[in-house]
Amino acid sequence: MGKLLALALVGILGALVGERIIALRNRFCASREVKPKRLPNCHLIKGIEYGSEDIDILPNGLAFISSGVKGLHSFAPDKPGEILLMDLNEKNPRPAELRISRGFDLASFNPHGISTFIGDDDAVYLFVVNHPHSKTTVELFKFVEEENYLVHLKTIRHELLARGNGIVALGPDSFYATNDFYFSERILMYLELFLGLTWTNVVYYSPKEVKEVAKGFYSANGINMSPDGKYVYVADLLGHNIHVFEKHANFSLSPLKVLQLDTLVDNISIDPYTGDLWLGCPIDILKLFLYDPEKPPGSQVFRIQDILSEKPSVTQVYVDDGSIIQGSSVAALYGKKLLIGTVFHRALSCDL
Ligand SMILES: *[C@@H]1O[C@H](CO)[C@@H](O)[C@H](O)[C@H]1NC(C)=O
Ligand SMILES: *[C@@H]1O[C@H](CO)[C@@H](O)[C@H](O)[C@H]1NC(C)=O
Repeated sequence: MGKLLALALVGILGALVGERIIALRNRFCASREVKPKRLPNCHLIKGIEYGSEDIDILPNGLAFISSGVKGLHSFAPDKPGEILLMDLNEKNPRPAELRISRGFDLASFNPHGISTFIGDDDAVYLFVVNHPHSKTTVELFKFVEEENYLVHLKTIRHELLARGNGIVALGPDSFYATNDFYFSERILMYLELFLGLTWTNVVYYSPKEVKEVAKGFYSANGINMSPDGKYVYVADLLGHNIHVFEKHANFSLSPLKVLQLDTLVDNISIDPYTGDLWLGCPIDILKLFLYDPEKPPGSQVFRIQDILSEKPSVTQVYVDDGSIIQGSSVAALYGKKLLIGTVFHRALSCDL
């Protein structure tokens, strides 16, 4: 009897683990097979070799690119991260590293999500989620264009921002940020992934108030806002969906709808003119975590139009199996130029 019970228990446990593994496998990669879909006028951007994880483009065509994040695979593990700047109005735009004011710890700079804000005086502020020594801080910079220079204004730390990832600026010193376990706590991350818990959230930060404004995501990742500032979009990477929230004057968010996609959604960029969402997707997250040069992670770009309507249109714009560009995390548009960035690989520029 004892033996039978033990056998039954082992069987049940085995079935549970099996079910988890299948559920996980489904969550970790796009649910249907993705066939390559190329665009005609693309080239790899010279000077970006070690990641272009997040890209934010100002209305005047200056693109900020965070590069060299550590935590997953890296082609240059000893090189600190950096912020690159590229002027997309130039004929052959070339990225240049932005110098950072003295006193900022460059050696441990590990930039992740970035977001810009233009102040009343036209000053440009840059928010950077940073992971120095596996901790999370948000670094606030002011951009001095004439000198290709970032003045470090302050380092923001808060217990509610202990494991930040994506960020969207709301003012010269306020923002929403997503939290997940991607970097800070490996054990929690694996536990969370394995059990399929929805522990990740969105936090509002201002010097006066910090609060959780949304929760219940498998892995809250990219975050952005509609051009009119009324709606906030959050990408749930492992939930394979985009959550749409209404933003209130007190900065709380109320859920409006969830758009289900059949792939892992990473960053969200917004076309400032049409309000369309552009998504960069890595297709298979295990290939990102367990990098194998023979089977690199791929890249997928989506455009979503009319997300608030009953039938948003979802277009797959670009797909590559990793033979050109590996593990894309962002796709940002400026006029007819599309930049596709990656977690640790290169960056692609396409003329649409
Ligand atoms: C863009 O995606 C990367 C990769 O997951 C993430 O680290 C970053 O925070 C995202 N950026 C924003 C603004 O959400
Ligand atoms: C924020 O504003 C919304 C909409 O007006 C309201 O429903 C909500 O209760 C407010 N939240 C707080 C914490 O005051």
